[in-house]
Amino acid sequence: MEYLPDKNSSYKDVEYWDERYRTEQHYDWLGSFSNFQHLLEKNIKKEDSILILGCGNSNLSGDMYSAGYHAITNMDYSSVCISVMSARYSSCPGMTWHQMDVRQLSFSDASFDVILEKATLDAIMVEEKSPWEVSPETSSFIHQALTEISRCLKPGGRFISITFAQPFFRKRLYARTEYNWSVRHGSYGEGFEYFVYVMTKGEQLSPEDAALEKKLLEEPKSQPSGIPTRQNEENNDFLCNITL
Ligand SMILES: C[S@@+](CC[C@H](N)C(=O)[O-])C[C@H]1O[C@@H](n2cnc3c(N)ncnc32)[C@H](O)[C@@H]1O
Repeated sequence: MEYLPDKNSSYKDVEYWDERYRTEQHYDWLGSFSNFQHLLEKNIKKEDSILILGCGNSNLSGDMYSAGYHAITNMDYSSVCISVMSARYSSCPGMTWHQMDVRQLSFSDASFDVILEKATLDAIMVEEKSPWEVSPETSSFIHQALTEISRCLKPGGRFISITFAQPFFRKRLYARTEYNWSVRHGSYGEGFEYFVYVMTKGEQLSPEDAALEKKLLEEPKSQPSGIPTRQNEENNDFLCNITL
């Protein structure tokens, strides 16, 4: 509780994360590697080049390194985070750390086999009032990030997104023809369910996802009613309510 911000919108501010990472040693949002290792192992080979977005001070990179994934590039927009984490893992050859914004990745096209994010896009979406209708600002932010992610993926590469967002909310953002990937998902967690989305570059959207995209393009304002949402029940205080 020590690091809870005064207001939820702080999760979007780099100043909040810089301050937090000055003292906090470690925190793993949405659980740790062992909780979803079985899902990652199906989609990542040991020799794959991996980019972790918004790495924070999570143990994910270190745990994956110990499990045999050695080509891990990490990025976060918090300079404090990058400085602390690069010092912590200085004895791990193949692991690199970069301060960067997820909307502007300074990597060449088709650089990575796998791009992985855990709770980073959730933090960016934290102020959204309705998961059915993301605000134009957040929509544009996420679109810039997804465009960059798609650009940096090799053909056949996978973008893996670990989040608390349920498929009927998150698929609306990920299932778009212009990113040139398919979308699959699995889940993990007991009591509280988390989701692992796997987007494979160069594969087509399933007919169901293509139909969803078409529907959203035709009816951009449509908002299904009557379906209870965990977010609504929790008064939109998404991240504060995550129990690990
Ligand atoms: C909820 S934390 C998740 C940290 C870590 N991935 C984990 O699973 O524990 C969100 C992280 O995203 C980073 N972040 C937020 N917005 C970002 C952006 N625009 N570009 C890069 N990193 C960002 C924050 O600094 C923070 O480390």
